[in-house]
Amino acid sequence: VALDALNTLRLAARAAWFAAVDSADQLRAVIDDPRVAGLPRFVLGGGSNLVLAGDFPGLVLKVAFHGKSRVQEDADAFYIRAGGGENWHDFVRWTLEMGWPGLENLSLIPGTVGAAPVQNIGAYGIEMAEHFYSLRAYDLETGKTVGFDKRDCHFGYRDSFFKQAGAGRYLIAAVTFRLPKQWQPRTNYADVARELDALGIAQPTPLQVSDAIIAIRRRKLPDPAEIGNAGSFFKNPVVPAEAYARLAADFPTLPHYPQPDGSQKLAAGWLIEQAGWKGKRLGPVGCYANQALVLVNHGGARGSDVRATSDAVRADVRARFGVELEPEPVFVGG
Ligand code: EPU
Repeated sequence: VALDALNTLRLAARAAWFAAVDSADQLRAVIDDPRVAGLPRFVLGGGSNLVLAGDFPGLVLKVAFHGKSRVQEDADAFYIRAGGGENWHDFVRWTLEMGWPGLENLSLIPGTVGAAPVQNIGAYGIEMAEHFYSLRAYDLETGKTVGFDKRDCHFGYRDSFFKQAGAGRYLIAAVTFRLPKQWQPRTNYADVARELDALGIAQPTPLQVSDAIIAIRRRKLPDPAEIGNAGSFFKNPVVPAEAYARLAADFPTLPHYPQPDGSQKLAAGWLIEQAGWKGKRLGPVGCYANQALVLVNHGGARGSDVRATSDAVRADVRARFGVELEPEPVFVGG
């Protein structure tokens, strides 16, 4: 089965076996099929945080669990559940239209509800973890259904249990979010404040915040429907205070965000741009002209081309700043 249309970088790759699963019974039937016994398995969501490094010799399970509903309400919050296969952005807009705000800053992030906890998606001052309540997953090793609460997930910056010790083992079937009834717009991120200011909106509604974020993202980030990409390709690196102090002496305009433990998060996009990579390419893969942190497939790229450009960018940033960039998407196959 060709996976080309199922990954937003639009890399050409094939899976030996493929199944889209939308229920527990169907999942069980697929993994009990003797033809795939003992083969490696890979769980696919929206394919937007993925580098297909080569063909996959096993079973690809595309998460197609659907449904969204309010499952509970108490004095302080709404509890909203969605199937892992639901499109993330459509889910966010639906919550806003239903009058359950909180996720608006995460508008237009590509991918699915089930993939959101894996990398703890974040943007414009909010991380998904803040509104996460619980999830239900299938343990592909034991065949059992497991519940995870927030603590079980070990959320960090673009990180969770599902990218670490639990990597590859679980299929996330449904996620429940806790959306507090007390709502305040979160518009302190510079781009968001500027956008709302330009529109003359002082007290935005949740849908207006969402619209502003959509406008910003459309300007800065390539639409995967038009040009293959996987969003930010590198994490923003976090360095100790002393390392930052040395860098700041040489590069006083380096954007930096102080962390609670005293370390500093640096803007990888700035480092990459300064290293000369913005809008530049190596073969078919390059850095996007409006946001250097995003690698784009100009057409016909394979996983090895993505790896080559990624390695070249990392080497140049290391040589110039002594900072190590870590790729954010998951590499599979090859
Ligand atoms: N910058 C440059 N050159 C560039 C890109 C950025 O100088 O080519 C500078 C900007 O001027 C700014 C700073 O770097 O001072 C930060 O840029 P931006 O606000 O665009 O955000 P980012 O740190 O590059 C992160 C997330 C994005 C998220 C935005 C907004 C990561 C890895 N990326 O990008 O997430 O949308 O903040 O919150 O944390 C994603 O993960 O796929 C993603 C798009």
